[in-house]
Amino acid sequence: MGRLFRLLRPHSSIVFANLALMAVSQLARLLIPFSSRYLLDSVAPAHSTKLLILLLLALCMAVVVDALALSTAQQRVNALVGHLIRDLRRQLFNHTLKMPLCVLDGMSTGELVTRILDDPDGISAIAGPAVFSAVLSLISGAIVFGLLLAKSWRIGACIFIAMFLGAILIQHLIKQIGSASKPLAQLQAAAHSQVTEALLGLRLIRTCSGEGDQGRDFEWATQKIFRQHQILSLREKDLSIASIAICGSASILFIGFGGVFLIHSRWTPGEFVQFLATSMYLVAPVFTISNLGPTITRGVVALKQLEKILNIEEEAAIGTCPAPIAGEVQFHNVCFEYSRDRRALSMLSFSVPAGSTCAIVGGSGSGKSTILALLCGLYRPSLGMITMDGIDIREISCLPEYRKQLGILLQEAALFSGTIKSNILMAKPDSTDLLLREACGEAFIFEFADYFPGGLDTPVGERGILLSGGQRRRIGLARVILSNPRVLLLDEPTSGLDAFSERVVRNGLRKAGKGKTTIYVTHSIADAREADQIIVLEGGSLAESGSHLELLANAGPYFRMFSEQTSRYVESRAILNDRN
Ligand SMILES: Nc1ncnc2c1ncn2[C@@H]1O[C@H](COP(=O)(O)OP(=O)(O)OP(=O)(O)O)[C@@H](O)[C@H]1O
Ligand SMILES: [Mg+2]
Repeated sequence: MGRLFRLLRPHSSIVFANLALMAVSQLARLLIPFSSRYLLDSVAPAHSTKLLILLLLALCMAVVVDALALSTAQQRVNALVGHLIRDLRRQLFNHTLKMPLCVLDGMSTGELVTRILDDPDGISAIAGPAVFSAVLSLISGAIVFGLLLAKSWRIGACIFIAMFLGAILIQHLIKQIGSASKPLAQLQAAAHSQVTEALLGLRLIRTCSGEGDQGRDFEWATQKIFRQHQILSLREKDLSIASIAICGSASILFIGFGGVFLIHSRWTPGEFVQFLATSMYLVAPVFTISNLGPTITRGVVALKQLEKILNIEEEAAIGTCPAPIAGEVQFHNVCFEYSRDRRALSMLSFSVPAGSTCAIVGGSGSGKSTILALLCGLYRPSLGMITMDGIDIREISCLPEYRKQLGILLQEAALFSGTIKSNILMAKPDSTDLLLREACGEAFIFEFADYFPGGLDTPVGERGILLSGGQRRRIGLARVILSNPRVLLLDEPTSGLDAFSERVVRNGLRKAGKGKTTIYVTHSIADAREADQIIVLEGGSLAESGSHLELLANAGPYFRMFSEQTSRYVESRAILNDRN
């Protein structure tokens, strides 16, 4: 709720103006019960048509004032809620982009989409016009109650006790609704996740003929949502029965009290009618709150979920950072685990002098990509220290600025909907056309882009789905080359390329990395042998390091990798020779 008030604070003048407008509308409405008494006690005994016309004119004025005040307030509250939802969505999206990856890894995309797009709507239930009028009906109820108490403290006390008991019952039932709303929200987020995951992996589902299994899983998820909805609607039914019972009993109580006063001639008929009509103002809040209860409860659940996300600390974005970096990298006894039971790196130490090249090789899952992720500051080491130019990366307080100096090619080529050109320009939006074309040439982009009628302006589709894996990879490379970084961090830069493009790309990277620190992950001896230093990983630990020749002389894991790859080459040469 604190966040809601913080969000509303800049708009407090609008909030108070709307409350004032609603108060005017409520006061105008109060004219009806008072006019009935005037009609019965003054106008009717005087048989005065003139007074009746004046009374009707006053009532018409009241209706106009009520309509104008309420509609204006509602329209302004709607606009305010629209602003709040828009601001909250923006805040959530920007916050999620900056949340630490170790936190995001534990959350599903579907859940985050629900939080960012759906949950802000929940606040319209808490800050919307219905709630404003509920607050006002409570206020007018309290005013009427005060008037009643002044007239007869006995009636007031009895009504107070009845209302108090009713309020306890309603509060209990609303709590029950709240406890059913929370699991419903979780089930809906899980279903959202399932849909997102299935749509992203549709090709895999088709190739594994998994449509049936996925359909059944989703059927099960929707069945669970349906059941939870049923539970919720039963609780809502209890609430509506309780509110009708409370209001009905209150009305009987009012007629009983009024009847006694009327019989003993302590009230005129006009006073009796006025009492009955105003007493409806005491009953109205019960109806309003029980009608709004479920919506408000769902809104509160949504707001709590949003709070949880917004309370997660963002990655450091402000402060100083080493600029420009020279590119001297050191790992000092680095240990890292993604989660408690998943150690990815153990006591890893190595250094890469500025301007040199370093290849990281090793089996699948040995921690190669993890090294690059740690160097980018995407995760923090659990133990040990990583330094860039002697500065501990954990102390760099402006990671976005730091990352701008790194050219990063991730293992999975990430593209966004847009064109080939817009994807490459992401690295340097203000780049000239000449630099763009140079980068495209070095990454061998024209080799496929020229085949498309749109050339560089060809759309790539969502996540680059309209391109092949190798083509996506080359776009990633062109991005790195264009950004002209101080340090290049490349995860398998030549994977997915045919032999010819591989050679061309290798040459391009050699040119782009001239004089710069280049750290690249590779499975290819042809790539690794060119590096000044090769680091060999086994199960997250450093198995050996050195130059190509030094490692061959070691006759260790690198030598075995070399033998395996060259034996394949020798074998293929032998087959060719046999054929000839
Ligand atoms: N986000 C993650 N959450 C949890 N564990 C992870 C995550 N990413 C990787 N791992 C685990 O960390 C270990 C190292 O992974 P890493 O991606 O660094 O391997 P790799 O050497 O790059 O493998 P490959 O050659 O297959 O790309 C693996 O055991 C992997 O399962
Ligand atoms: Mg990897």
